[in-house]
Amino acid sequence: MTTLVTNIAQLINTRTQSHVLRGSELAEMPVIKNAFLLIEDGIVADYGNMDDLLSKLPRLPENNIDASGQFVLPCWCDSHTHIVFAGAREAEFTDRIRGLTYADIAAKGGGILNSAKKLNEANEELLFKQAWERLEAMAKLGTGAIEIKSGYGLTVEGELKILRVIKKLKQQSPLTIKATFLGAHTYPVQFKENHEGYIDLLINEMLPVIAAEKLADYIDVFCETGFFSREETTAICNAAMRYGLKPKLHVNQLNSIGGIEAGIQLNALSLDHLETLTDADISKLSDGKWQGISTLLPTAAFFLGMHYPPARKLIDAGAALALATDYNPGSSPSGNMNLVVAMSCIQMKMLPEEAINAATINGAYAMECGDQLGSITIGKKANLIFTKPIPSLAYLPYSFGTNLIDKVMINGRFV
Ligand code: NIG
Ligand code: FE
Repeated sequence: MTTLVTNIAQLINTRTQSHVLRGSELAEMPVIKNAFLLIEDGIVADYGNMDDLLSKLPRLPENNIDASGQFVLPCWCDSHTHIVFAGAREAEFTDRIRGLTYADIAAKGGGILNSAKKLNEANEELLFKQAWERLEAMAKLGTGAIEIKSGYGLTVEGELKILRVIKKLKQQSPLTIKATFLGAHTYPVQFKENHEGYIDLLINEMLPVIAAEKLADYIDVFCETGFFSREETTAICNAAMRYGLKPKLHVNQLNSIGGIEAGIQLNALSLDHLETLTDADISKLSDGKWQGISTLLPTAAFFLGMHYPPARKLIDAGAALALATDYNPGSSPSGNMNLVVAMSCIQMKMLPEEAINAATINGAYAMECGDQLGSITIGKKANLIFTKPIPSLAYLPYSFGTNLIDKVMINGRFV
C-alpha cells in the first residue's frame, strides 16, 4: 500500500543517515517545512518539500492524507520499561506521602517484592491482557517501539512467565519490542541471606531456558545498595553475555556504588537511571571511550520526589542521552513519553530539540533498532506521530500535560 502525506507544516527529524547523537549533536534537529512524505508498505519511501512533489511524483497515489498545520515526527522509542506487572502499588504511594522512603518500603518487604507476590499469583493470560492494554495506551500517546523487562517474578516460573508474555506481545503487537531479562531486580525473601544461591538460580536455571527459547535480547541488573553489588552485577552479566545477551543496566539510582565502572567494563549497551552521579561518573559516561547510551528516566525521579539526573552536565560533557518512561508500578506508573519529554525540558534544562532527539533516535539506538526507527529516513519504518496544529516544536513540551497528538501511525497504519 502507498500513502502520501501532503502539506505537513513541519516534518521533524529528517535524516539521510542516522547515528547515535552525542553531546552538542543532540541540539541539532533537521526539519523540512511544508513537506510531503511518501510511505510504501509501512516504510518511508521518500520525503521532501511540497514544491518538489510533482517533479518527484508525477502520478500521485490515491491514498492521500492532508496534514495542513500539523507536525509529523518519528514515534517515541521508549527504551526502558517494566510493563508486565500485576496490580498497582498505590498503597505504597500513600505511605511515601506520609513520609516513608522508597528504600524504607523495600526494606519492609514492599516494593519489588510486593509486585513479585502479585505477579506470581497472576496467570499468563491476565498478564498478557493487562500488558497489551498498557501497550495500546502507550501507542496512542505516540510510542512506536519499546523495551520491556522481566523482574517481577524472581522465581524460575515467574521470570519465564513474564518473558513468555513479552514474546507473545512481540508476536502480536505492531510495535517494535525488545525483551530484557531482569531476574536480578532484587533478592527474593528466601535468598536474602543467600545471594550465591539466587545468582546460581539466575545463571543455571533461568538463563539456559531463556536462551533456548530465545526469550530475551538483553540482560539487566539493579546495581544498588541493598540490591545487587558491583561484583554480583558483573558475574550475572558475564554469564548472560555468554548467551549473547548484552547488558542494559539499572545503575546509580540511589547510590554510586560502581555500577558505571562495571557497565563500562562490560561494554553495556545502555546505563540507565543515573540520578546519583559523581563528577568522575559524569566524565566516564561522557568522555567517548564508552560508546553506550546514558538513559534518563525523569518521571521516576519525579514520582519518587528525588533530584533529577544531571542531563545538562552530561550533554555538555559529550554524553549520548536517551529518555524513557521506566513505566512500572513502583517508581513510574506512567508510560507517557510526551510527559517525559516535557519534564526533561522543564526540570533537566534540556532543549526541546535535545529531548526529542533523546526520545526518538537515541532511544532507538538504546534498543539497537536505530537502523529501522527514530528518524524520518528512507527505508525506516513509518512509525509517526501526527500532532494537532501547533505553532512550533517547542510548543509540545511547553504545553506539558496537554495531549497534542492527533493520530499515530505504526508501520504505515493508523492505530
Ligand atoms: O526502574 N529501580 C529498580 N526498578 C524499578 C522500580 C521497581 C519497583 O519499584 O517496582 C525502576 O525504578
Ligand atoms: Fe527501571
